[in-house]
Amino acid sequence: MHPAGLFITFEGIDGAGKSTHIAALADAFRAAGRSVALTREPGGTPLAEKLRELVLNDAMDPLSEALLMFAARRDHLQQVIEPALAWGEVVLCDRFTDATFAYQGSGRGFDLEVLRQLERWVQGQPGTDALRQPDLTVWFDLPPAVAAQRLASARVPDRFESQPQAFFERVAAGYAQRMEGAPERFARIASDQPKAEVWQQVRQAFEQRGWLQPTEARA
Ligand code: TYD
Repeated sequence: MHPAGLFITFEGIDGAGKSTHIAALADAFRAAGRSVALTREPGGTPLAEKLRELVLNDAMDPLSEALLMFAARRDHLQQVIEPALAWGEVVLCDRFTDATFAYQGSGRGFDLEVLRQLERWVQGQPGTDALRQPDLTVWFDLPPAVAAQRLASARVPDRFESQPQAFFERVAAGYAQRMEGAPERFARIASDQPKAEVWQQVRQAFEQRGWLQPTEARA
């Protein structure tokens, strides 16, 4: 018998510093004897990576943007996420649907009811009313002014990274709203701190749930 799969997503505005912590968590899970699938959205499959190129770089209207995000997500769920969970793997996914609500919904002002409908279609579980949702969403909460300073020294910005600070204020509010709607699913990490302290908070969120214990010990 393999352990139950775990679906973990990571969110935050651009510049919030998710990447190193995702890599460190992958190591921690592997050290505990778990199989880890590291993936990201938009992307994670050949088709979804093509859609990522388009949606991050080509101008388009907000509905097209939302549809492409969910089209990429559908392929990703079917090809990668659901099979990995069925095998008992730990899926660490850099962004998921909360990003669509925060960026397309709150950031761009796109109709939240349409997003909710797309979420139901794309994440609906066959034969039930349940939606596939993460077991835990780690939200790296960083003030947009701090993120802007960090991004200023980064690479060439994409269509989202080049947005003004006011856009990221709305995105951050969008994440807060998503957390209010499902507080038990979220771990909010105060990210305006040195990296080592942010990592302590992240590790604690997983240790608290008993998820980093060696698999044998839980049998
Ligand atoms: P990001 O994780 O920032 O990738 P990278 O670190 O390689 O730049 O994600 C790319 C961008 O996509 C980010 O600006 C947020 C945006 N995005 C949305 O607008 N909606 C979505 O549903 C997702 C998944 C991402």
